[in-house]
Amino acid sequence: MAETGIEYVRMAEFAWNRIEPEPGTYDFEWLEEAVELIGERGMQVVLCTPTATPPKWLVDEYPSIRQETRDGTPKEFGSRRHYCFNSPAYRDESRRIIEAVASRFADNEYVVGWQTDNEFGCHETTHCYCDDCQSAFQSWLEEKYGSIADLNESWGNAFWSQEYASFAEIDLPGPTPAQEQHHPSRLLDYDRFASDSVAEYNRLHTELLRQANEEWFLTHNFMGDFPSIDAFDVTEDLDFAAWDCYPALVTQQAPDTPDPSSERGAELARVGDPDVVGMNHALYRGVSDGPFWSMETQSGDIRAFPYAPEPADGMVRLWSHQAAAHGCDTVSYFRWQRCRFGQEQYWGALNNYDGSPDRGLPEARQVAEEFDDLPDLDAPSGDVAMLVDYESLWAFDSELHTPEYDYWGHLRAYYRALRARGVTVDLVPTDRNLTDYEALIAPSLHLVDEELAERLAGYAADGGELLLTARSAMKDEHHKLRDELAPGPLSDALGARIVQHESLSPGSEMRTTYGGETYEYRTWAEWLTAEDATVVGRHSSGVATGEPAVVLNDHEDGHVGYVGVWPEPELADAITTDLLERADVQFGDRLPDLVRLTERDGYTWVTNFGSKPIEISSDADIVLGGPIVEGRDLSVVRAAPHEIEVNQSV
Ligand code: GAL
Repeated sequence: MAETGIEYVRMAEFAWNRIEPEPGTYDFEWLEEAVELIGERGMQVVLCTPTATPPKWLVDEYPSIRQETRDGTPKEFGSRRHYCFNSPAYRDESRRIIEAVASRFADNEYVVGWQTDNEFGCHETTHCYCDDCQSAFQSWLEEKYGSIADLNESWGNAFWSQEYASFAEIDLPGPTPAQEQHHPSRLLDYDRFASDSVAEYNRLHTELLRQANEEWFLTHNFMGDFPSIDAFDVTEDLDFAAWDCYPALVTQQAPDTPDPSSERGAELARVGDPDVVGMNHALYRGVSDGPFWSMETQSGDIRAFPYAPEPADGMVRLWSHQAAAHGCDTVSYFRWQRCRFGQEQYWGALNNYDGSPDRGLPEARQVAEEFDDLPDLDAPSGDVAMLVDYESLWAFDSELHTPEYDYWGHLRAYYRALRARGVTVDLVPTDRNLTDYEALIAPSLHLVDEELAERLAGYAADGGELLLTARSAMKDEHHKLRDELAPGPLSDALGARIVQHESLSPGSEMRTTYGGETYEYRTWAEWLTAEDATVVGRHSSGVATGEPAVVLNDHEDGHVGYVGVWPEPELADAITTDLLERADVQFGDRLPDLVRLTERDGYTWVTNFGSKPIEISSDADIVLGGPIVEGRDLSVVRAAPHEIEVNQSV
């Protein structure tokens, strides 16, 4: 490991049973020996609280700690993440094991930081339906609403006779006859509660770890395009976020990528969709409000579904650099050696299962050398931000309207367009200070309360360029329509209202004009009435023909725009470049397919995920690579993206 240039070793994330083979009997020797060996070779250790895998003896002693599915079936021992976040017994047991490992390593000079648990929520374990969750949910609701009358009113429980007489009557949203039509306000609060439960459980870890040694850094390994946990909330108790970057996995699972069985889908599974991966890097940079880690970086073939292709040559290196360009300060690989037993024998590693180097190892070594030669850089920060709101995502999931309305996919329509122009995009939560951004996109910001509406309108009034997109501000914070048309409290600033909406099958005609041209859109259409706003695009297909689809309003010193469709790439490019021009943000020519320019602190990574070489021309220094960038290769240039010209025909 040391010869490969590895600096941090993360381990013991699933080792509870080896640390405590019997209740109360601890064995740390093997772990101390490993820590010692790592430290003596000049590397540092990141340990993990081993709570993702409660051992058999613990499950047998406290069967109630197991999660339950919606229909009340306990999740059995035999894989991982079988515990409930709200189980008092499991919280006690977690405290005990965390205190034991933390105090044992508190004075160990080689242990520098911790990962809490492992991938909270993985395998659909954010939501649980056990009795402990039920009573915790009731208390959570009582704390939030105070009186049952208030809850009934806030949710709108007069509908279908769903009023409750007390908090004790409220059960978890289990199976109902109308599965697809569970009460949306109840589901939204249950989603909030489930995410809060994870944050609270994580806090139990961080408090104990900080008590043991306040110098340690604390992080958690989140996942890509992950829906059910508010990563901003959980990270408030951490020093920074990490995520597990499996490009083949996240690309094949994303709904806005081609079918993995198509030619294009197969190519992308080998290299990863640069914007699917890039947007997750940007998200965890936003979550960390600075540099983040890639805790598990794909290092070979993985047991991704539906296919597990070997990465193209050079991808382990390219993925590592892509992460660094986006603000990742440590690229850690999963895993050092392929495991010969258990569930993950088909999950590739830097070394093969016989211990011999696998395809990724020489690339990882090269990356370590190259990172050593690059200066220390601040994390990127852009002039353009996109708001991320998990509550809006949850609201969509309980009332999809159409299965194609994927929240991350909708954000990505705008993210892709901006990235194809080399623009840095920050992904930030709604409560972040927004005043430094020249332009702000609020994609599908479905739930907006008065306070947020005021801040957003104020941002535009002070000279900001605000762009709202389809379905924004349609609902209040309880997931209810208002007594005025959308965008409710933002209507005055927008000078327009949304009067109709529809979801459309891929077979429908979906066209709108914009700035005098005709463009395609997909999935969703709204039409507006403009009061003060200027109509800049009109539907040119379907029943909405002639109705406003895109509007723009002067709002004091800035503008508020609204896009009432889900734009295809050409329309997204036209809309975002107009936004950048209004905001005075510089951008370059549209980049060739699978080429991305990513700026970090004055240096731009030119990453070529395609198979054909490109040529870059820039007067600035090329600090890594050269002017010809081969397929699956990169160069680093000391210049801004808009100063770099990319030519594909070499
Ligand atoms: C991650 C997880 C690792 C390992 C890896 C391969 O999801 O954190 O523990 O399971 O994927 O499956």
